[in-house]
Amino acid sequence: MTSLCALLGLCCLAVQMALSVPPIESQPEQVHISYPGVPHSMVITWTTFNETESVVEYAVWGGKLFDLMANGTSTMFEDGGSEKRKQYIHRVTLSGLSPGSAYLYHCGSEAGWSDVFYFSALNESDSWSPRFALFGDMGNENPQSLARLQKETQVGMYDTILHIGDFAYDMDEDNGRIGDEFMRQIQSIAAYVPYMTCPGNHENAYNFSNYRNRFSMPGDTEGLWYSWNVGSAHIISFSTEVYFFLDYGVDLIFEQYEWLKKDLEEANRPENRKAQPWIITMGHRPMYCSSDDKDDCTNFQSYVRVGRNDTKPPAPGLEKLFYLYGVDLELWAHEHAYERLFPVYDYQVFSGSADEPYVNPKAPVHIITGSAGCREKHDGFVPEPRDWSAFRSTDYGYTRMQVLNRTHLYMEQVSDDQYGKVIDSFWLVKEKHSVAAWL
Ligand SMILES: *[C@@H]1O[C@H](CO)[C@@H](O)[C@H](O)[C@H]1NC(C)=O
Ligand SMILES: *[C@@H]1O[C@H](CO)[C@@H](O)[C@H](O)[C@H]1NC(C)=O
Ligand SMILES: *[C@@H]1O[C@H](CO)[C@@H](O)[C@H](O)[C@H]1NC(C)=O
Ligand SMILES: *[C@@H]1O[C@H](CO)[C@@H](O)[C@H](O)[C@H]1NC(C)=O
Ligand SMILES: *[C@@H]1O[C@H](CO)[C@@H](O)[C@H](O)[C@H]1NC(C)=O
Ligand SMILES: *[C@@H]1O[C@H](CO)[C@@H](O)[C@H](O)[C@H]1NC(C)=O
Repeated sequence: MTSLCALLGLCCLAVQMALSVPPIESQPEQVHISYPGVPHSMVITWTTFNETESVVEYAVWGGKLFDLMANGTSTMFEDGGSEKRKQYIHRVTLSGLSPGSAYLYHCGSEAGWSDVFYFSALNESDSWSPRFALFGDMGNENPQSLARLQKETQVGMYDTILHIGDFAYDMDEDNGRIGDEFMRQIQSIAAYVPYMTCPGNHENAYNFSNYRNRFSMPGDTEGLWYSWNVGSAHIISFSTEVYFFLDYGVDLIFEQYEWLKKDLEEANRPENRKAQPWIITMGHRPMYCSSDDKDDCTNFQSYVRVGRNDTKPPAPGLEKLFYLYGVDLELWAHEHAYERLFPVYDYQVFSGSADEPYVNPKAPVHIITGSAGCREKHDGFVPEPRDWSAFRSTDYGYTRMQVLNRTHLYMEQVSDDQYGKVIDSFWLVKEKHSVAAWL
């Protein structure tokens, strides 16, 4: 009898010990990384539902696990929904990374650790040729391109991802649970390569708070507008949404415009433009498109292109600004389609030549890539393409880009509907950058 009790007691103890795994509230999830715009660094971001320490333990690939560690901070993010759900967003910056080296890491605290992930620190050389995957408009439901992107990222095809607005559809829904689910879904990409973002219209709830809190972008605007350098490219991310959600502050249009102007001026200083000749912008809603919906870009005087005259004072648009500072390439999404434009300014085509429109073009080149996959399905096109429209497709898919060197940039469009087939590709070749290239 007593021995059985003792036995049972022991069993209970064993069961109890097995149950004392870290509680789920302290378990890190939604792990993703981003480049803070500071050389030799990477930011690791994740969520816990209870407050914990914020620690990353890491190691050079092949070295001793985990002989390096870094501490960070967490902020409490309260969703704006009726449940006022709370979560802790942890951020740790790894610095002093060796360019090009691979690192293994896990994140969390003594109350719970994540799985082990890996990333390569960005090569900081101006002559490096970074490879990107870029797309917009990817949701939880029908994230058509996700599987292909997961695999291609994990085998090392990309150095960084650009997600050009519209996440999760929508992050705030179900009291932020859709956002949580989306961040879990993209962990299989975003925990391995820097996942760089800009806000889209689907992030607008509670003044974009899900967007601003969940990501960790360079600068101090919570990812609304910022820029960073990679290889020979200066990449500017901004919010087209300031033109549409005026309730959050008309002054944001002007604040962003002034920042863009200053950033472009700085990027055009001879020594900077020499190191990063390519200026590439990313913003959610395009200036041009041949979609058959009623979106801003279908209007001749789209807000993003020419600004708004119904605000006080009238708000400037961005086409002229980008033209005057010699922006080479403008990346957009929002339309659930892919469209490549001929070099265009003020509704006129300015090709390099008739045979080779993208060799020394006389105006910026626009690409719309918003068909990664979401519950809203495809957008259609007007039957007759405008003369600035060079190629269009409604297939689900995403874009690959390599900034090869100072003169050559390559882009191609992957169709997920056609099992990864490349349906469009072109070289953008520029012997001259800056506004002088347009002459
Ligand atoms: C998590 O936080 C809640 C609320 O503060 C608390 O009741 C619970 O005990 C915590 N759980 C753990 C495992 O710390
Ligand atoms: C991180 O914080 C822990 C606990 O406060 C401390 O022991 C450790 O030295 C810190 N590590 C670094 C790299 O700052
Ligand atoms: C970084 O890229 C440059 C240019 O491609 C290359 O020469 C260099 O070896 C790379 N550095 C590392 C550490 O891989
Ligand atoms: C919305 O957020 C922006 C940026 O953080 C801020 O400047 C603005 O004042 C906010 N607007 C409102 C109405 O809270
Ligand atoms: C104001 O903008 C609208 C289009 O947004 C345009 O139709 C109208 O002509 C503009 N008015 C003035 C005075 O510029
Ligand atoms: C860039 O790469 C292309 C294609 O390989 C090559 O033809 C060109 O000469 C290179 N340009 C520079 C400046 O190295």
